[in-house]
Amino acid sequence: MPPNNHFLIFIILILTPKSILFNIPLASSNDTLVANWKPIKNLSDTKLVDVGKFAIARHNFEAKTRLVFDGLVNGEIRSRTGTDYNITIAASDGGDDDDTLRNYVAIVSDLQYQDFMHLVSFRGPV
Ligand SMILES: *[C@@H]1O[C@H](CO)[C@@H](O)[C@H](O)[C@H]1NC(C)=O
Ligand SMILES: *[C@@H]1O[C@H](CO)[C@@H](O)[C@H](O)[C@H]1NC(C)=O
Ligand SMILES: *[C@@H]1O[C@H](CO)[C@@H](O)[C@H](O)[C@H]1NC(C)=O
Repeated sequence: MPPNNHFLIFIILILTPKSILFNIPLASSNDTLVANWKPIKNLSDTKLVDVGKFAIARHNFEAKTRLVFDGLVNGEIRSRTGTDYNITIAASDGGDDDDTLRNYVAIVSDLQYQDFMHLVSFRGPV
């Protein structure tokens, strides 16, 4: 019965969350060609925390600093051959009586197929 089918489609469109309808044109546009940064929603994600701790440890090693990881403030993710993370990390500088948290911005590249993380850049405090 065509009229009923139309009605059903109408109902489905009405009931479908706007976010789903809205995402279809975005997903099918060109982000298969160019990977864009996307905000990270869950900053407590264990993988993400590992990436943040890695960035601090690696920076401490390279710059002979003693930053102490506290948590993540912000983050963006981009998937290409591997995964790139642009994260803002809260850290204290490890001084004896200075536990003030400051923010640092790190870019980490995770080449999953090699199980290898690379600290691309680190700056801060910002
Ligand atoms: C594809 O994405 C790039 C980078 O975001 C943008 O500059 C370009 O205009 C887009 N092309 C189309 C056809 O949407
Ligand atoms: C965020 O990630 C943590 C650790 O994986 C998990 O316990 C928590 O449920 C997640 N929160 C949301 C809102 O997904
Ligand atoms: C990374 O994030 C910081 C802070 O949000 C921003 O200022 C910076 O431009 C970003 N870097 C890249 C390469 O996207």
